[in-house]
Amino acid sequence: MAKYLVTGGAGFIGSNLVDKLIEAGHEVRVLDIFVTGKRENLNPKAQLFELDFTDLEAIRPAFEGVDGVFHLGARPSVPYSVEHPVESTQTNIMGTLNVLMAARDAKVKRVVYSASSSAYGIQPQLPQHPDMTPNPQSPYAIQKYVGELYCKQFAKLYGLETVCLRYFNIYGPRMNDVGAYVPVFTFFLRQVRAGEPLTVFGDGEQSRDFTHVSDAVAANIAAMQSGKVGNGETLNVGAGGNTTINDIVKMFGKPAVHLEPRAGDVPRSQADISRTKELLDWEPKIHFRDGLAAWLRSQGIDPVL
Ligand SMILES: NC(=O)c1ccc[n+]([C@@H]2O[C@H](COP(=O)([O-])OP(=O)(O)OC[C@H]3O[C@@H](n4cnc5c(N)ncnc54)[C@H](O)[C@@H]3O)[C@@H](O)[C@H]2O)c1
Repeated sequence: MAKYLVTGGAGFIGSNLVDKLIEAGHEVRVLDIFVTGKRENLNPKAQLFELDFTDLEAIRPAFEGVDGVFHLGARPSVPYSVEHPVESTQTNIMGTLNVLMAARDAKVKRVVYSASSSAYGIQPQLPQHPDMTPNPQSPYAIQKYVGELYCKQFAKLYGLETVCLRYFNIYGPRMNDVGAYVPVFTFFLRQVRAGEPLTVFGDGEQSRDFTHVSDAVAANIAAMQSGKVGNGETLNVGAGGNTTINDIVKMFGKPAVHLEPRAGDVPRSQADISRTKELLDWEPKIHFRDGLAAWLRSQGIDPVL
């Protein structure tokens, strides 16, 4: 069994990952300061390091004796980054560099980095493949992409094994539900509960490759353990689908109003997961309609199928 550190382990994806690692018998440390993460997400069997990864010296003790690091901690929001480009750069770029430095110096074997499909931005064709030239459309997308470049450099320069997982719109249990920058589902849920119409930015025909959190967790574990990666590879983590916001509105079965398109949003995204399948022996298990239907039922809403 291994000893792992999960940054952002009190957040949505990180806490699901921590649960799975502990279930598998691993020893797990969580590094988080609860910016968007929640104490109630913390697995009681994990050891908490309440440290801010924008401070390199402060976080070093958390990396001592660790076999692998899953770096999920971030300010993961396009709108937040548009409003706060400097603060989000501090967390998403400098924070990632600090995590890599601390991992390198503590002789950690491998870092699995949570990258983002937002790096693709607008592309002439779908699905998006890691060999395409990135075309970021927001500060967040730039920041997450720079994190990938650092991961690749650290593998080359210092021999720290790294893998970059570009997630495509992850959903599922513990999705963030507070604040102004929540995912579309929880935003809609809040509006349903308030008896308000669903608000759609633009014409609603923008599409996303919604991916269940359990599939993202499985990809992380495979990326940590696979003998075929470690040189800063970029791999897509998506379900391979292409669902529009209007499709989601239909599943909610509620009326919608349309607002102006939102700055930094990309019109379409869909993952080509062939390389991930090949290198990680991984594939998504949850079909989007089933996953969203299950989540809606768990929130007391009958999905329109
Ligand atoms: N959710 C998605 O659809 C999605 C898509 C693409 C990429 N990602 C990436 O996946 C990762 C996890 O995303 P999530 O949706 O679980 O987000 P989240 O907001 O739930 O988790 C991020 C965690 O990082 C912690 N954190 C933030 N700043 C910190 C700091 N300075 N020091 C220590 N901890 C800090 C937060 O408290 C939180 O627990 C992020 O790196 C994000 O960029 C997510």
